Amino acid sequence: MGLKFFRVFEAGAGINPIGLLKKAISSNKKKTRRVFTAADLVLDIPGTLAKTGLKQPRNFMAVRGCAIQALERKKPMSQNLIFAGMMLQDMAFQEHSAQLGTNKVRKFFAEAKRKLAPNGRLVLIQHLKDKDYFIQLAKEAGFLPYFRELTEQEAKSAESPAIRRVSTHEARVAIIDDLVKRTINPSERFNEIDEMTKSRGLSNHTDLYKPILISLRLPKK
Ligand SMILES: C[S@@+](CC[C@H](N)C(=O)[O-])C[C@H]1O[C@@H](n2cnc3c(N)ncnc32)[C@H](O)[C@@H]1O
Repeated sequence: MGLKFFRVFEAGAGINPIGLLKKAISSNKKKTRRVFTAADLVLDIPGTLAKTGLKQPRNFMAVRGCAIQALERKKPMSQNLIFAGMMLQDMAFQEHSAQLGTNKVRKFFAEAKRKLAPNGRLVLIQHLKDKDYFIQLAKEAGFLPYFRELTEQEAKSAESPAIRRVSTHEARVAIIDDLVKRTINPSERFNEIDEMTKSRGLSNHTDLYKPILISLRLPKK
């Protein structure tokens, strides 16, 4: 029997998934038998290659389109790690329904569950404010959740611009200020933020945007 590959699927990898591409190149050089798929609605691989001067290696597959459909095309139980960094909130809000996209997120979890290899993990990075929402849906899909906050150092050194954007307290202050300023009714928006902070038991408005890691695994059969 040949050696197995370790398969990584990144959902919502962004327009220029430079980090994932570099990981694939490095794995190729070291012969660590890792295979990467990047899926995103706005993925631009030719642009990424032109910008970085990198060459697309054979162990890197790019899918421009919905991550759910890209996952649907994978073999059952084939992926060792499915990762989504600051993607699920976009998926949730794309669906213009009263349910804030819950159905689409449910579909994503169900498909990830089908495609995870035994002992595989689905790892999400999200804002602290959305933790309970995503953990609840993940539990309903049958996942066992674990979560922790990212350290400032981890967030600062992340490949993902969306994670780096919320890595420090000062950056999160700027996000809140911006949210309040950019609305027709700033005091109403401020009250919403205040309410959200209190309802989540947080002491500071900026904690809403702290980056957290949610690791999901399936129970052993
Ligand atoms: C906030 S950005 C994060 C990008 C990158 N992961 C990062 O951390 O910088 C969210 C990304 O999710 C992508 N996205 C949203 N819904 C998606 C879907 N249904 N399928 C694939 N990608 C999606 C968007 O196109 C966008 O690039």
